Amino acid sequence: RKIGVLISGRGSNLAALIEACQTPDYPAEIAVVISNRPGAPGLQFAESAGIPTQVIDHKHFASRTDFDRALDDALRAAGAELVCNAGFMRLLTPEFVQLWRDRQLNIHPSLLPAFRGLDTHERAIASGVRISGCTVHFVRAEMDEGPIVAQAAVPVLPGDDAEALAARVLRAEHQLYPWAVRLVASGAAWVEDDRVVYAPDVP
Ligand code: GRF
Repeated sequence: RKIGVLISGRGSNLAALIEACQTPDYPAEIAVVISNRPGAPGLQFAESAGIPTQVIDHKHFASRTDFDRALDDALRAAGAELVCNAGFMRLLTPEFVQLWRDRQLNIHPSLLPAFRGLDTHERAIASGVRISGCTVHFVRAEMDEGPIVAQAAVPVLPGDDAEALAARVLRAEHQLYPWAVRLVASGAAWVEDDRVVYAPDVP
């Protein structure tokens, strides 16, 4: 399965996906990495792995619709069959989401449906939860909404600040995202009636 990865920044989840794709028998390969920010550090992970990159700067488009159309064109041109958002910080139009419905994944650093949106770790700590984590889900038009593919939990420890919790969750993200992409790309997980169902042998 060819995947297109969308990033805006650091790209550590992209790096985890690149590494996974290099392991034998992994059912996906990254066809293109697209950033909406010209200087996104994550682009370098793709470049050093010899993966084609593209910058589609949202500032150069008059509307979200135009930007999303350019994104869609680039993904199709690269032959992408699955789109993985990895720290992609743009909300997509319902039209784009519909075009890639059940073929687009996102990773979010909380146990959804808790703590959608930004400042996840600050809010998790402020709320007093003792467990947080990360979620890979299919993308829907509402932010951080959609059928859940996989989640991983980590403890919130006494004395944690947002940075400490973010680092712990991020380590879990780097395990979870490649695993979830494997499930979807291999056909072991798919959407039925807006929920994810799994092949019988999925643990
Ligand atoms: C991750 O925490 C991801 O869950 C969130 O944004 C962050 C991106 O980090 N959506 P990176 O760019 O993958 O390092």
